Amino acid sequence: MDIVSPPSIMKALHDRIAHGVLGYTRAPDSLVEAIRHYFKVHYAWSIEREWLVFLPGLVQGLHLACRAVGNPGDQVLTMVPIYPPFLQAPGHSGRELVEVPLKLANGRWLMDLDDLESRLTPKSRLLMLCNPHNPSGRAWDLDELLGLIEIAKRHGLTLCSDEIHCDLILDSGRRHVPLAALDEAADLRTITLMSPSKTYNIAGLGCSFAVIEDPSLRRRFLSEMAGLVPQVNLLGYTAAEAAYRDDGAWRSGLIRHLKENRNLLLDFFEGSKRMIMSRPEATYLGWIDARGLHPTAPLAVVEAAGVGLSDGRDFGSPGYLRINFGCSRETLLDAMDRLRPLL
Ligand SMILES: Cc1ncc(COP(=O)(O)O)c(C=O)c1O
Repeated sequence: MDIVSPPSIMKALHDRIAHGVLGYTRAPDSLVEAIRHYFKVHYAWSIEREWLVFLPGLVQGLHLACRAVGNPGDQVLTMVPIYPPFLQAPGHSGRELVEVPLKLANGRWLMDLDDLESRLTPKSRLLMLCNPHNPSGRAWDLDELLGLIEIAKRHGLTLCSDEIHCDLILDSGRRHVPLAALDEAADLRTITLMSPSKTYNIAGLGCSFAVIEDPSLRRRFLSEMAGLVPQVNLLGYTAAEAAYRDDGAWRSGLIRHLKENRNLLLDFFEGSKRMIMSRPEATYLGWIDARGLHPTAPLAVVEAAGVGLSDGRDFGSPGYLRINFGCSRETLLDAMDRLRPLL
């Protein structure tokens, strides 16, 4: 986002710098407690401290999940369109990627669980979910998540859920449900990847974590990390703890701002034949069917108009574009002015 982090985080970082000793450190107990408390209050999810594995980046977590489950040659499923590292991680890990297309119904991107199940083979081991979903902005419905869990149980799949956008639910009345928290019997193997980095705009400080309840899966994940994955840097820990301890007022203001930006964009694209945006329920990302501009490569058209969007090809969907509306109103209005002739 193009948005300044809350004062509580800026103060914590200034204080930590003023301390002056900037050596190695491990995750402070106070951060672990802040995370556990936050999860309980916000997601009604009680986690144990040993389930947490700190990581300098969530994308590493996606790659580690591929390596920690099954063996080379096994299959990893994911639903497309999807944040590009989901498409790359299986191949980088010697696994085979199986893409399951989301289906569009009444302008809403939905999981197609029947199609997903029909694509499973004896080599299918892992399913990687993005919850909420980048790029569509979907906040999955309970029945979609429960349906996924049922399939995973029936076929012995491990689930990896990237929940980096979990605190950016835009629709009031909805709350984030961690996939792993729905497995009450705890007989599913899950890896939940989380971070306050998107919500509080501290991604550059690199503090994320995996939550892995199953001890053998956690051991395997940790052994794949050994000697390769660096510790989180101390300012990352500092900012993450301040984020989880923030009083919430800044985040409420952010959600209001993002919601207004989203609504402006929805009004803007309404009725356009050439750029059709589905309605983001979470995140600061809009997913646009821009095949009306060019069937496979509309990016050059919007760039020529002076707007930088993300290329759908990277997400597995040529002809689509992703807009990031985590910016000031002024920037958004400027972008809309530049895009208007293309509608
Ligand atoms: C769904 C998703 N996962 C992971 C990341 C990146 O996480 P990190 O910077 O911690 O690797 C992003 C960033 O855009 C994202 O949207």
